[in-house]
Amino acid sequence: MKKILALFAASCTVAGALWSAPAAAQFAKPEDAVKYRQSAFTLIGSHFGRMAPVVKGDAPHDPAQIKANVQVLQTLAGLPWAAFGAGTEGGGAKAEIWRDEAGFRKAQQRFNDSVAKLAVAADGNDLGQLRAAFGDVGASCKACHDSYRQRR
Ligand code: HEC
Repeated sequence: MKKILALFAASCTVAGALWSAPAAAQFAKPEDAVKYRQSAFTLIGSHFGRMAPVVKGDAPHDPAQIKANVQVLQTLAGLPWAAFGAGTEGGGAKAEIWRDEAGFRKAQQRFNDSVAKLAVAADGNDLGQLRAAFGDVGASCKACHDSYRQRR
């Protein structure tokens, strides 16, 4: 029990650090913020997309590998948002983000909640559950992109 509590405390500290680090992030120029968030999304896209073959049944399901990858995704999922500060309009971001901050925050919340559920699914070995949680995360990416990312 003690060990579990210690583990829990440790993971809370890590989560706290994850939230406060990007919030304190400073960018010398608006372009630096744009580059930062695009880089974070590129990594998110990579770590999300690489699970697609498993979810589709085209690659064998290795639960340990999925779990490790989802842990990376959870870390990445907290990163882009601090780089959408005032004055950082541009890149592929729609101006809507700065006009509708509450809506944008809600879209982040939906994403972060669905990534948390994916992490729970990844703790189990059930491919069906993983597939459903993966689909929900994908839907949350798309929902935000539909409203807040420019079509190219
Ligand atoms: C809450 C909103 C939101 C969520 C959730 C979100 N994105 Fe995005 N995404 C954006 C915005 C806004 C941009 C454009 C950023 C820019 O160019 O400044 C973007 C850009 C991207 C890019 C292009 C990065 C580049 O180099 O230009 C990729 C890839 C991407 N997102 C993948 C994903 C994936 C995959 C998910 C889900 C697993 C996801 N995003 C979830 C808002 C979101």
